Amino acid sequence: MGLYSNNYKQSLVSPEDFWADAASSIVWDKPWDCVLDSTKAPYYRWFSGAQLNTCYNAVDRHVNEGRAEQAALIYDSPVSQTQITYSYQQLLDEVARLAGVLSNLDVVKGDRVLIYMPMIPEGVIAMLACARIGAVHSVVFGGFAANELSTRIDDAKPKVILAASCGLEASRIIEYKPLVDEAIDLSDHKPSNTIVLQRPQATATMQEGRDIDWATAVASANAVDCVSVAATDPLYILYTSGTTGQPKGVVRDNGGHAVAMMWTMKYLYNIQPGEVFWAASDIGWVVGHSYICYGPLLNGSTTLIYEGKPVGTPDPGAFWRVISEHKVVSLFTAPTALRAIRKEDPDCDHIKKYDMSNMRALFLAGERCDPDTLYWAQDKLQVPVVDHWWQTETGWSIAANCLGLEVFPVKPGSPTKPVPGYDVQFLDDSGQPVAAGQMGAIAIKLPLPPGTFPTLWQNDERFFSSYLETFPGYYETGDAGYVDEDGYVYIMGRTDDVINVAGHRLSTGAMEEVIAAHPDVAECAVIGVADKLKGQAPMGFAVLQSGANRDADDVVKELIALMREKIGPVAAFKLATIVKRLPKTRSGKILRATMRSIADGVAYKVPATIDDMSTLDEITENLKALGYPKSA
Ligand code: COA
Ligand code: AMP
Repeated sequence: MGLYSNNYKQSLVSPEDFWADAASSIVWDKPWDCVLDSTKAPYYRWFSGAQLNTCYNAVDRHVNEGRAEQAALIYDSPVSQTQITYSYQQLLDEVARLAGVLSNLDVVKGDRVLIYMPMIPEGVIAMLACARIGAVHSVVFGGFAANELSTRIDDAKPKVILAASCGLEASRIIEYKPLVDEAIDLSDHKPSNTIVLQRPQATATMQEGRDIDWATAVASANAVDCVSVAATDPLYILYTSGTTGQPKGVVRDNGGHAVAMMWTMKYLYNIQPGEVFWAASDIGWVVGHSYICYGPLLNGSTTLIYEGKPVGTPDPGAFWRVISEHKVVSLFTAPTALRAIRKEDPDCDHIKKYDMSNMRALFLAGERCDPDTLYWAQDKLQVPVVDHWWQTETGWSIAANCLGLEVFPVKPGSPTKPVPGYDVQFLDDSGQPVAAGQMGAIAIKLPLPPGTFPTLWQNDERFFSSYLETFPGYYETGDAGYVDEDGYVYIMGRTDDVINVAGHRLSTGAMEEVIAAHPDVAECAVIGVADKLKGQAPMGFAVLQSGANRDADDVVKELIALMREKIGPVAAFKLATIVKRLPKTRSGKILRATMRSIADGVAYKVPATIDDMSTLDEITENLKALGYPKSA
């Protein structure tokens, strides 16, 4: 049996031995009483009884073990023309003093801290400072609007918010502080303080008594030590899109997470301590949590924080410059970033200016990697291109080609095989496994491995009903796909209302709630249509209230503006149309899948239960006016 098969089998047959062995990579304050606690199944816990501190393992440990002078974090910001390197010693000093600031504000173990920061080192420092004192951080992506921020404030109830005065996009400065102020105004829960990092590009207006200047507070704070927490204590909450406007608060624990991160750095990414690993994502997403912040630092590697875009900052050679300047050994990004580069530089001429000799592999995730993009990347980079499949919920990859175990031939369109720890099954509606090659709902046999999510924040019921109820004994991923005869998995799409826009996960349900709130809209539907660059793009269909004597173009403009205001620019909602009626079944179910097929120009069967055929004609006409299907 090969190295992969051996590891995979052992992880499923004796998960406790497998993960206990992996756990020796972590410094524990107290060993566990049991590796896998199944007493409250299906709510499983890993490393019950153990104590540790994640920040200690990610920072202090490396200083103590001889890496004090090694680079821990490189900040490269073409948008602000800045580059800064922090050694592990410098990172420790910054983290320990910011932890001191939080302690001075009475933030203690278990308290929540919300982080609303752009891609600057202080974002990672903030996460680690929380981990240091056992506070639970919740990072919110900067592209979300005040309304989304406020939903998260009300759910997590943070004692303190850490924010920067602004974020820098390629062509504009986005002031964050007014969004924070508005979000707090909208929220029922009021944090006691906000700590604001004033960036030179925009100065935030401070509110006396509540807002604290970051730099001043850190300058006068004492460094504080790590607080030991239970392995099962939460490290962070990360909100992700579900089927409704109420995002799901995915919880990550401390112990299992640290073990899983270390295991993946070695066996999946094949990264050594001291090497530079770059996840070109954002700390607001799970990729940023796992592989900008925790994974590389726990591993004693160097992480890279990039504040820029793949194109336009200043050109489509930006990624190659960063790789060559900082000797990056592996890049992790979303296929959409490569599509953006390819669009502007199809022959990849820019790469010729740079020394790419340190680069060993490219990892892709966040959305399905189309074969075209895969071939292009393989050809231009001449390194293994690893598509790997994962979710906010799992925190690390469910299926991949594990470069540290055994490298399999790539099959385009497949993220290769299940990663050790995940018993991936393809089920029919009645929960029975389907045959190889047949599409099924993808489910993972419980227990999920360490580092995945034990529950949703203070909502065991929603955790159960969203993920565990449909297929008893399994975690329902929400993705559909199939496995081939060789055990390669193929992820073909979602089974729910989640869409994937430029590698960002968004809820069409949440968007429908926004459109439905427009005073002239009677009902609506939002679907994800295929988009060459971003994978998918949201498209809205609205029916106006009878008597609403409005110009359709005006309403469309208002809907687009409303989405930007309520969800944020990240929704990239730019396509909408007004229809007289939505296509529905006789029982009233909106035929979103049929609408999607028409928009994408793929064959579809008209459901026998359709209420009124003419509604499909109207949809087809309106789509044509919007330029859909694209190939037509
Ligand atoms: N703060 C505020 N606004 C933000 C933001 C942030 N952190 N990130 C994005 N936005 C805004 C953008 O400015 C843009 O606004 P606009 O409508 O005014 O232009 C909007 O949100 C959509 O952003 P984006 O999806 O990034 O589109 P883009 O056209 O600016 O760039 C790509 C296209 C492909 C270059 C970009 O989407 C990209 O790099 N994607 C990779 C995503 C990724 O790495 N995902 C992580 C998964 S691993
Ligand atoms: P997120 O929680 O934002 O990471 O989004 C997770 C979803 O993105 C998954 O459920 C998939 O639908 C999709 N996804 C992520 N990675 C891949 C991949 N490599 N291939 C196909 N789909 C992916």
